[in-house]
Amino acid sequence: MPLPRSIVVLTGAGISAESGLGTFRDEDGIWTKYPLEALATPEGFARDPDFVQGFYNDRRRQLKTARHNRAHEALARLESACRAEGADFLLVTQNVDNLHEQAGSRNVVHMHGELTRVRCMNCFTVTVCQEDIGTSTQCTACRTVGHVRPHIVWFGEMPLEMNRIGDALSQCRMFVSIGTSGAVYPAAGFVQEAMYAGARTVELNLEPSENARVFDETRYGPASEIVPAWVDRLLDA
Ligand code: OAD
Repeated sequence: MPLPRSIVVLTGAGISAESGLGTFRDEDGIWTKYPLEALATPEGFARDPDFVQGFYNDRRRQLKTARHNRAHEALARLESACRAEGADFLLVTQNVDNLHEQAGSRNVVHMHGELTRVRCMNCFTVTVCQEDIGTSTQCTACRTVGHVRPHIVWFGEMPLEMNRIGDALSQCRMFVSIGTSGAVYPAAGFVQEAMYAGARTVELNLEPSENARVFDETRYGPASEIVPAWVDRLLDA
C-alpha cells in the first residue's frame, strides 16, 4: 500500500525520555522538581534572569552527551520513505533538544524553540549557541550586552511557525502524536485539527494521554519499542 500522501508527526518529551532527557509532568518530571512559573515564563525571567539562564545552560550542556534513540531513528526512516514516494512529511516537535536532527530528520519544526539557539531581545537576531549564556553575554549581531536569552517559547508566548504547522495539519492524511501528555495547547489541539481535515489519527505513548479518546488508533509502551514497530508496519503495509 502506498504511504498516506501527507503525514504530520507531533513529538513531545516522551520520545527523548529513553535518551536520558527528562519529561515534564511524569513522576520525577522537570516541573515536579522545578517551579514552572519561575523558569518558563517571561515574568520569571524578568524577576531572576540568572536562575533562568542557569537552568537552560544546564539543559544545553546535557545535549553534548545525549544520544538519539530508536524512536528518533524510526521517524527519520519514515521521512526518507515519504521523500522517496513524493509524500509530504512534517515533524513538529515540542522538544527543545536536537535529537531528531541527530537521528537524520530534516523537515523539523521546533514549535517551542531550541536549546542550541539564543535570541537577542534588543535586535531579535537568533544565533546558534552551544555554550552557556548569562546576563553579561554580548549579542554577536548588535553587540549590546545583557539582552541575550534562550530561544525557548515560554508560557504566555506564541509558539513558532504556527502558519506552517496549520497548513500541514489542514492537508494531512495521517497525524501521529508521540510521547506527549496532551496537556499543553496549542499542540494538544493538533489532533482535532487533523481530524477535521479527515486524517487518520494515531497516538503512540507510554500511557494514554489526556486526549487519548480522540485518536483512531492508540499504542502504548516505551517509544524506543513502539515507534519503530509502528513505522515498520506502516512501511511494510
Ligand atoms: P510531558 O512531560 O507533559 O509528557 C510526556 C509524555 O511522555 C507523558 O504522556 C508520558 O507518559 C510519556 N512518556 C514518558 N516516557 C515515555 C517513553 N519512554 N516512551 C513514550 N512515552 C513516554 O511532556 P510534553 O507533552 O512534551 O514546553 O510537554 C509539553 C510541553 O510542556 C513541553 O514542550 C514544555 C513543557 O512545559 C515548554 O517548555 C514551553
